[in-house]
Amino acid sequence: VKRLQLFEIHDQPWCPASLRDTLTNYLATVLRVGRMYHPVIPLLHRALERAGTRQVVDLASGSGGPWLDLAPLLARDGVMVDVCLTDKYPNPAGARGGVRYHPRPVDATAVPKDLEGFRTMFTSFHHFRPEAARAILADAVRSGRGIGAFEVMNRSLLAMMSILLTPLMILVGMPFVRPFRWAHLFWTYVIPAFPLMETFDGLVSCLRTYTPAELRELTAGLGEGKYVWEIGEVRSRWAPVPVTYCIGYPRP
Ligand SMILES: C[S@@+](CC[C@H](N)C(=O)[O-])C[C@H]1O[C@@H](n2cnc3c(N)ncnc32)[C@H](O)[C@@H]1O
Repeated sequence: VKRLQLFEIHDQPWCPASLRDTLTNYLATVLRVGRMYHPVIPLLHRALERAGTRQVVDLASGSGGPWLDLAPLLARDGVMVDVCLTDKYPNPAGARGGVRYHPRPVDATAVPKDLEGFRTMFTSFHHFRPEAARAILADAVRSGRGIGAFEVMNRSLLAMMSILLTPLMILVGMPFVRPFRWAHLFWTYVIPAFPLMETFDGLVSCLRTYTPAELRELTAGLGEGKYVWEIGEVRSRWAPVPVTYCIGYPRP
C-alpha cells in the first residue's frame, strides 16, 4: 500500500487535552501489557553502548509510551538509563518510577540544544512527512546524538485488520487503563468519541508508517559515513506485526 500522509485527530490543537490523554494512556497501557516493544531491548542496549550514553530524550512521548517498562528492563541488564520524556502536548502525569517528564512543550522537529542524550521516538515517527522526518534525523546527526525510531504498526492488511478490533478492546478494557481517570470512562461510555478516534487514528497510523525501504531512503547520505544506520524489522514470538526500527549513532 502506498504511504498516505493524512492526519490524526489527537494531533490537532483543537482536540480536548483529556481526550488526547485518554488515547495516550490507553496506548501506553496496551504497549506495556502487550510487551510490544520488548523485542527492541537488545537493539536499544547495543545502540546506547555504541553511542556511549545512558541519557535518553524521548520525543512525542504522550503518556510515557513504553519507557516506563523498558527503563527497568534495561536496568536489569545493567544499563541504568536516565529518561526524559517530552511532547508537543506534554502529559507530566506520564512521569513515574524515575522517568522524568519535561514540563514545557517540545516539538520533535526543533529539539532544544540543552536536551542532551540519545533520542527515541516510539509510535510517533509516522506523524511526520518525509521532509520533516528527514529533518528530525538530520538534526540528531548535526547535534552528534544517537536516535532510534520504532513503530509497532505497518501498512499491511493484517495490521489494519487488528485496528478494527480496537473498539471492542476499548469497550472491555477501558476501566483497566492506568493511571485511572474518570475522563477515560466519559470519553468511552458517555460520549464514545474515544473508540471512534482511536480507530480512525489507528488506521491512519498504519497508512503513514514508513517501510524499512523508505527509512533507508530517508537516511541516505545522512552523517556522510560517520553515522551507522540500522534499519529493519524485529518480531516477538507471538506478535502478528513486527516492530519496524531505524537507529542511527555516530560511528564508534
Ligand atoms: C501516537 S502518540 C505516541 C505516544 C507514545 N510515544 C507512545 O508510544 O505511546 C503520538 C504523540 O506524538 C505527539 N506529537 C505529535 N506531533 C508532535 C510534534 N511535532 N512534536 C512532538 N510531539 C508530537 C502527540 O502529542 C502524541 O503524544
